[in-house]
Parts: sequence; C-alpha cells; structure tokens
Amino acid sequence: MKGRNPSEGKGQGFRKAILINEHLVVYGVPAIAVPILLPVEVTASVGRGAGLRIFVHPTTAGNPRKDIDSDRFEAVRRVLRTMGLSETENMIQIQCGDDLPGWSGLGSSAGFCVALTRALCKALSRSCPDEEINRIAYEGEKVFAANPSGIDNTVATHGQTVWFERGRMPAWEWIRIGLPLWIVIGYSGMPARTRDEVEKVARFRDTHESVFSGLVQGATRLGRDARTALEKGDRVSLGALMDRGHAMLQQLGVSNERLDEMIAFCRHQGALGAKLTGGGGGGCMLALVSDQSEGETMVGGLEQMGYPALCVKLGREEEPG
Ligand code: PMV
Repeated sequence: MKGRNPSEGKGQGFRKAILINEHLVVYGVPAIAVPILLPVEVTASVGRGAGLRIFVHPTTAGNPRKDIDSDRFEAVRRVLRTMGLSETENMIQIQCGDDLPGWSGLGSSAGFCVALTRALCKALSRSCPDEEINRIAYEGEKVFAANPSGIDNTVATHGQTVWFERGRMPAWEWIRIGLPLWIVIGYSGMPARTRDEVEKVARFRDTHESVFSGLVQGATRLGRDARTALEKGDRVSLGALMDRGHAMLQQLGVSNERLDEMIAFCRHQGALGAKLTGGGGGGCMLALVSDQSEGETMVGGLEQMGYPALCVKLGREEEPG
C-alpha cells in the first residue's frame, strides 16, 4: 500500500425494492428490482498493524459502538479475503450505520457489502470497475442470504432498475421505468434474516415439488407481464401483478401476520397493489400508490397502526416522472 498510513476511503451501495419474484429468483425465475435512493454508507481505513475493528454509528445521536454482529464480521472477512487483503498484515477499521438488520428486505446487506468493497478500494487507491465491485460484494452477501441470486448486489452496485435471471449470461439487463412510481414501504418492526427465509423456501421446494414447479411457471409469466406493465407505464396492471406475487410468497410461507396486516390496510386504502419485499419473515412490505400525496396519507395510517413507514419514488432521478 502506497502513501498515507492509515489511508481512508468512503463507499456507497444502493438499497432496493424487489417489485416481483423475490425468492423464486434464486431458482432462475426472472425478477425485477428497483434502486431506492437510501444508500448504505461505509468508511474503511487500512493502516499498519494487524486486526479488524468494526464500529457502528447510531442513526440518532450517540457514540459509535464496537460491533458484535458475527454475520457482519464474517461478511467483512469474506470481502477482505476476496480482495486479497489480510487482517494479520493490516489494521483494518470499518465504520457503518446501525440500520442493519433493521428495515430488512430492502437489500441493506448487499448495500453494505458494495459500500464496504468501494470504501476498501478507495482506501487502497485501487481502481475497481463496477463489475469487480459486484463480484466481490456477492461473496460477502453469501453470509446474509445463504444462496443469493445476485439480484441485490447487482442493484446495490449499479443503482439501476434490473431484470434479473439467474443462470443466464449475462444474468441481468437494465430496464426503463415507463412511469413515475411511488411506493409506500412499511416496516413490520421485526428484523428478519434473509438466510433463514431462503432456507425455508428451499425446504418448501424439497417437500412440495409439484406445487413448487407450478409456482415457478406462474411466476415466470408474472415476471414477464410485470416487465411489460412497467415499461408501458401501466400502473394498474403492475399493481394487480404485485398482488399475485404476494399470494405466491404467502404460499411459500415467507409472509407473516404483520406483513399481511399492512398489505390488507394499504389495499383497503386504495393501493394499486401490495406485497412483501425481499426475504420476508418480517422486514418490509411495499404498496404501489398513484401519487405522493396518496402515499403520504397511507404512511400516516400505517404509523398510527404502529408500523414505521415512508413514501419514496422508485428509480433514479434521470428516470421519468
Ligand atoms: O431480504 P433482502 O433484501 O436481502 O432480499 C432478498 C431477496 C431474495 O430473493 C429472497 C434472495 C436473493 O438472493 O435473491
């Protein structure tokens, strides 16, 4: 390593919302994910000495604390190993926010792995193309998601709306959103581990083979129709497809009462469609709404029910709307 010692770098990774086909994407079904402009930020410093320290900064006021999250340590170690960086030959310090695993389902772990990889590359003055960042971050994401499809780290790296099909080469293509999309995100208040939910679905597949293969076929059609609706700007059809996507996720056993309660509320309040997003088992749901003001009203209602919520526009600024 050249230059200053220790040297520091900062990195960012996007969070995301999966509009259709989380979980089934692990088995090669096409899925669509959209970046959310709530980036995960990490600062890394690499200097003389030996060791790995992770400090977590509270979102509200307060002093940073030393991390005790074994998953995060393991993910950092895998990223370091993939980059050929040794904690016995370098003193490595990582600083991050305390929003993991809170609000799970929004790709925070992949955002963390991408932000970490970028921060380390900057600290080491290594130039690293996005594809390499994505590849390294995927190794860290395996800790959080067991058998990750790769959709989360791809959106976290590139920050673009993605059509993702595991097993295809290349596995993703960018798609354009043909309309402004406002969604309400509601948090169940239950952090969940994506890995546990991915394993739950794997058990479902082993024990319900023919139901599972029916779901795979249905979800493949659903994915294609959702893409058409998204590109055409047909919100109403997209919403109906999201509702059907949620019914499949319920069948897979990854929804729960809190998610279903929020989803029923949003539909009753006029959402065009609503579903859990990400791993489920807790975490977040999303509801597609017609505009920001409808979304803000729904946020108020969810908060009165005791669920933290926010209304965001999906996609990047350069996308329409
Ligand atoms: O819970 P999240 O935000 O990490 O999303 C997981 C998405 C899954 O489809 C369940 C897993 C994957 O790797 O695609």
